Amino acid sequence: MKVLLVGSGGREHAIAWKLAKSKKLTKLYIAPGNAGTAECGENVPVAADKIEKLVDFAKQNKIKLVIIGPEVPLAAGLADLLESAGIKVFGPGKEAAKLEADKAFAKQLMRAVSISTAEGQIFDRFEDAKAFIASRDEAVVIKAAGLAAGKGVFVCDDPADGIIIAEKIMCDKMFGSAGEKIIVEDKLLGEEASILALVDGRNIYCLESSQDHKAIGEGDTGPNTGGMGAYSPAPIVTDKLMKQISREVLVPIVDGMNRNGTPYKGVLYAGIMVTAAGPRVLEFNVRFGDPETQPILMRLKNDLLEVILAVCNGRLDDITLNWDSRPAVCVVMAAGGYPGEYEKGKEITGLKEAAAMKDVVVFHAGTKKLDSRIVTNGGRVLGVTALGETISAAKQKAYEAVEKIKFDGAYYRKDIADKAIRK
Ligand code: AMP
Ligand code: GLY
Repeated sequence: MKVLLVGSGGREHAIAWKLAKSKKLTKLYIAPGNAGTAECGENVPVAADKIEKLVDFAKQNKIKLVIIGPEVPLAAGLADLLESAGIKVFGPGKEAAKLEADKAFAKQLMRAVSISTAEGQIFDRFEDAKAFIASRDEAVVIKAAGLAAGKGVFVCDDPADGIIIAEKIMCDKMFGSAGEKIIVEDKLLGEEASILALVDGRNIYCLESSQDHKAIGEGDTGPNTGGMGAYSPAPIVTDKLMKQISREVLVPIVDGMNRNGTPYKGVLYAGIMVTAAGPRVLEFNVRFGDPETQPILMRLKNDLLEVILAVCNGRLDDITLNWDSRPAVCVVMAAGGYPGEYEKGKEITGLKEAAAMKDVVVFHAGTKKLDSRIVTNGGRVLGVTALGETISAAKQKAYEAVEKIKFDGAYYRKDIADKAIRK
């Protein structure tokens, strides 16, 4: 089967790496891909947000299945265009993608179907938001309602800071039109976990749990990023908690989407805060998490293409997911300065030495090939991922691999997985 994978991050390299092992795959294209995906298939120079061009490419090349990695083309309606062209697609349509692309919509739907989430209010006028925030004397969380590459959420322990942020988002337009509406919500306390589930419109299959590290700094300090590392499974997610999240979050949201007339198909990601009072939803994403996908797919034993086809065909009940019981840890190596400004084009060395280690895969994110060299080409550059008998062993191996890789200004957190190890 000829497959087109859309995207260029670490998540897409992990998906491409796993698809390349499938017996059903005859040809894999990745648009636009990175230096890592080029080893798994053929990169095509079409950006992930050029949705008409992607449809043209799929038609011209007789692609049978398109897998959409990132949220931007999903929110722009790529899945709908492909479906109208008669091409199978993994990922929800534009209306269903609003679960991620419009946090106000997600909040209202959660309320309507009684899913536990932080108490909050939605604003489309700065003056109203300012008055509301000023009336509060405890911490607030300010969220741009639209897509902001994981950087649109601010936890403000002092409400006065919340007003400044709200002004930057709504008046100074730091996220453009994505900040026309904001959500102001209560700060939740607890530990986070990422729950990813496959949804075929009817059936919901949870993948193994994982945990991201959103903040740039050790000890979860500093601004939020797309994610600085992840591990799977997350010990905080017991079987009992997983069942509760499935029953109280995933089932009602998928039902709610069905009743809205926008059935959900693809992978649904629930960002959960495990509070003393139980699990609360922080956000939904309508795609695989990045970097959670890297450790999750290293542990999945199934043929990923078969699994994805089962989702597309509404036949998830035909498959059973099998997992490597060993934990996996992914450490993200980023460009110095990220998530603020950073430079590109730095040569990366040591990739082969790291990749030669047993049970280690170096997933590329912001990389590209320049002549015979591989150079940095984004904020998050690599996701160095290792399996180990224990989570400590996986961590140790991942960092051993990280230490073999060098580029100018490389930055990584040194405490990935420590929370799991302490458990
Ligand atoms: P989101 O994109 O909505 O998941 O938010 C990004 C990150 O901000 C989350 O992973 C949390 O670390 C943090 N966050 C979001 N909402 C809240 C909240 N209500 N309370 C505390 N932290 C939050
Ligand atoms: N790792 C967080 C995300 O994919 O949004």
